[in-house]
Order: sequence, then C-alpha cells, then structure tokens
Amino acid sequence: METLQFIHSGWAYIVLLVLVIATFNALIKFFSGKEYSPVDFRFSLFALITMHIQLLIGIILFFSKDYFSTIEEVGGMGEVMKNSALRNLIVEHPLTMIIAVALVTIGYSKHKKKLVSKPKFKLLAIFYTLALALVLAKIPWNLWFN
Ligand code: HEM
Repeated sequence: METLQFIHSGWAYIVLLVLVIATFNALIKFFSGKEYSPVDFRFSLFALITMHIQLLIGIILFFSKDYFSTIEEVGGMGEVMKNSALRNLIVEHPLTMIIAVALVTIGYSKHKKKLVSKPKFKLLAIFYTLALALVLAKIPWNLWFN
C-alpha cells in the first residue's frame, strides 16, 4: 500500500506537468488562431493517458486503504462528512478527480471529431482548463509535500 501511494504521489507530478502543458498549449493556440498540428494531438493524448493511469492507481489505492473500516470506526458517513480531513480523502479528492478525468476524456473525444483547428482548440481549451482547475483544487497539497 505504501508503494502504491508512492507511485500515486510521484505520478501526480507527471499528471500535473502534462495537463498544464496540454491546457496552456490549447489556450494559447486557440487565442492566437494557430493551425492544429500533430504536436497538439500528442499533448492532448498524453494528458488523457497520464490522467487515466492516475485514475487506475487512485482507485486501487482507495480500495487498498480500507476506508470502509475507517467509516465504520468513526460512526458512519455522516461523521466522515463532518470531518474535513476525512471528507477530503474519502469523498472530495476521489470524486473531484474522477470528474476531472471525465472532463479530459470528453474534451479529447469531442476535439478529435472536429475537422477545423479553431473548434478543436476551443474544445480542448474549455474541457482541459476545467479539469486542471479541479485537479489543482483537490490535490491534497498538505500530504503531497510532506
Ligand atoms: C487523476 C488525478 C489525481 C491526482 C493528480 C491525484 C493526486 C494525489 C496526490 C498528490 C496525493 C497525495 C499523495 C501523498 O501522500 O503524497 C493523492 C492521494 C490519494 N489519492 Fe489521488 N490523485 C488523483 C486521482 C485519484 C483518484 C481517482 C482516486 C480514487 C478513486 C485517488 C485516491 C487517492 C487516495 C486514496 C490517496 C491517499 C490519501 C491518504 O493519504 O490517505 N486519487 N492523490
């Protein structure tokens, strides 16, 4: 379990880096009206892949953590929701990150179907920016840098 957390924690750097690059790449090229090129496809695809890998590691980590015993010990989900630290780990972090992965997946598939540069960048810019905001909001910074 410690190994899993180590991997999830380390892979998060790659996720963040690749997602920031893909998002700003889309935003800058949307606003400057650039032509869509293979590099742009690669950035968007790498962000999709790294996010999905992190999702898988996260889900396995979640179940290996035995949060269900924790929930029982503290007296149910009501108590978990009253405790901001537990609520963050058990509910908010996983849920928000799943939504972020979904946003990247939707943005990626929608942008692929468009044939013209502007709408391609527009879809990537919107969905990846939303996903990045969610990821930044719900990374457990206090745990990560400890
Ligand atoms: C896809 C984007 C995600 C990112 C960038 C991310 C990032 C992180 C980071 C930086 C930590 C702190 C690790 C540490 O202790 O140093 C963490 C912890 C954790 N994450 Fe994620 N995560 C993501 C998705 C998920 C998902 C989808 C799940 C579960 C379904 C999940 C479950 C967990 C769990 C269980 C912990 C351990 C919390 C603890 O210390 O008890 N993560 N995550």
